[in-house]
Amino acid sequence: MMTDVASEAARRRTFAIISHPDAGKTTLTEKLLLFGGAIQMAGSVKGRKAARHATSDWMALEKERGISVTSSVMQFPYAGRIVNLLDTPGHADFGEDTYRVLTAVDSALMVIDVAKGVEERTIKLMEVCRLRDTPIMTFINKLDREGKNPIELLDEVESVLKIQCAPVTWPIGMGQRLKGVVHLLTGEVHLYEPGRNFTRQDSTIFASIDDPQLEARIGAQMLAELREELELVAGASHSFDADKYLRGEQTPVFFGSAVNNFGVQLLLDFFVEHAPSPRPRATTTRQVQPEEDRLTGFVFKIQANMDPQHRDRVAFMRICSGRFSAGMKAFHVRSGKEIKLANALTFMASDREIAESAYPGDVIGIHNHGTIAIGDSFTEGELLSFTGIPNFAPELFRRARLRDPLKLKQLQKGLAQLSEEGATQFFRPLLSNDLILGAVGMLQFDVVAYRLKDEYGVDAGFEPVNIATARWIRCDDPKTLEEFREKHAAHLALDAAGELVYLAPSRVNLQLAQERAPNVQFMATREHA
Ligand code: G4P
Repeated sequence: MMTDVASEAARRRTFAIISHPDAGKTTLTEKLLLFGGAIQMAGSVKGRKAARHATSDWMALEKERGISVTSSVMQFPYAGRIVNLLDTPGHADFGEDTYRVLTAVDSALMVIDVAKGVEERTIKLMEVCRLRDTPIMTFINKLDREGKNPIELLDEVESVLKIQCAPVTWPIGMGQRLKGVVHLLTGEVHLYEPGRNFTRQDSTIFASIDDPQLEARIGAQMLAELREELELVAGASHSFDADKYLRGEQTPVFFGSAVNNFGVQLLLDFFVEHAPSPRPRATTTRQVQPEEDRLTGFVFKIQANMDPQHRDRVAFMRICSGRFSAGMKAFHVRSGKEIKLANALTFMASDREIAESAYPGDVIGIHNHGTIAIGDSFTEGELLSFTGIPNFAPELFRRARLRDPLKLKQLQKGLAQLSEEGATQFFRPLLSNDLILGAVGMLQFDVVAYRLKDEYGVDAGFEPVNIATARWIRCDDPKTLEEFREKHAAHLALDAAGELVYLAPSRVNLQLAQERAPNVQFMATREHA
């Protein structure tokens, strides 16, 4: 018999949606929550998203932290499974956060706009998914509009994203002529009837395209075209192969229209059936299996000051094995201390609530005052650290300039905390008192300046600094490292975690330094220790 942990883990489905902005991620999220019973009415996710588009609105929104924390993780039951949908930040500048969220999921759902096809951000996110061979399902959205020919679209996905496509549903017409979809595995035809909410109960379904009534509904010519197209698809495309999907080599593809709630339930039904439950995870010492009975997990996200009344922070921990129960103590591997997981949050439905218990695949929010950092592991005493939660080398740099010199301590504290959260990266050069900030996207600096003022009372500006890129330094031989340190002190700094970093004024400089120190490693990402 399966243990409690094993059976609960087996019914978890933890995933994130990846897409280019505007493809329909928010709309689809809302419909999925609707099916999960997590929200009663469409519209609640929407307002949040609209506000998120503009920087200023985003900040105002972030001030009301309560909203953004509940939307970070959305949990709902569906068909006997427990689905955890982890939100990825909407703005392109928050790439790093998105990458880290993707380390905490077991699969992903890719949304593509039928008219736009594969877009730039989707390509980037796909590269990240590939690092861990994350299984991906695809939803081609906005079928109610004219778009690209479906066969050409699948070709595009295959050639640009280098992944095999296995269509599971197939559209009957598009735009004005959209009539429905055919489920290629069951043969069922689901009609598109605008203006209705398409749950199974209130949609028209025919058992097959041979149903005599279908012709009456879509017309003889369209039916003939459909038959021809299906033959073509059967010959030219791949059929669904569960193993290939789980290895990240093939993506099942669905067509629909999120805003019209069309094709969404077919996707969700297939998703809970086939998407992976929590998978084993690599650590510094061994693989952790989800069904192990001792609790392990890692922190992939930190969010500060969600409640303006209490300046605490919430660390989001993905559970990898065992069972969490309210009030239990867990071992914080980095500090070597036991931490009581009091008042941990779970994310059932749309309400924040106190967690009673949680299982592999679930996320809990742990309140703390800065002791927990991104990448930290928790166990019940075992010394292991989960791997694969990277810091990315920043590409943009600024020197912090204080308007009131008496606030230096506050500034240092603010920067240290914001960098722990991953809002920015923070470097202190070995030979100067400069405070250098690094970011992957420009907007991060605005956010940091705003939050320094709002949360730490520090009025700081940022000025350009002559740094082009950064590399974390690794060297096993202490003597070589010491020589390197002395020789390059002018370019070296410590990051917020105290790790040695080379700040290169130019790519050429970096290349020369690398050539001259062949026994020193220059890393473009740093794993959280
Ligand atoms: P995102 O989170 O991926 O950025 O996309 P979001 O869901 O916000 O959708 C972007 C726009 O596309 C929205 O329009 C949304 O209504 C629309 N949309 C989503 N799904 C469909 C669909 O199936 N068909 C059509 N035709 N449009 C769809 P908007 O103009 O930005 O907002 P709104 O004013 O329409 O709400």
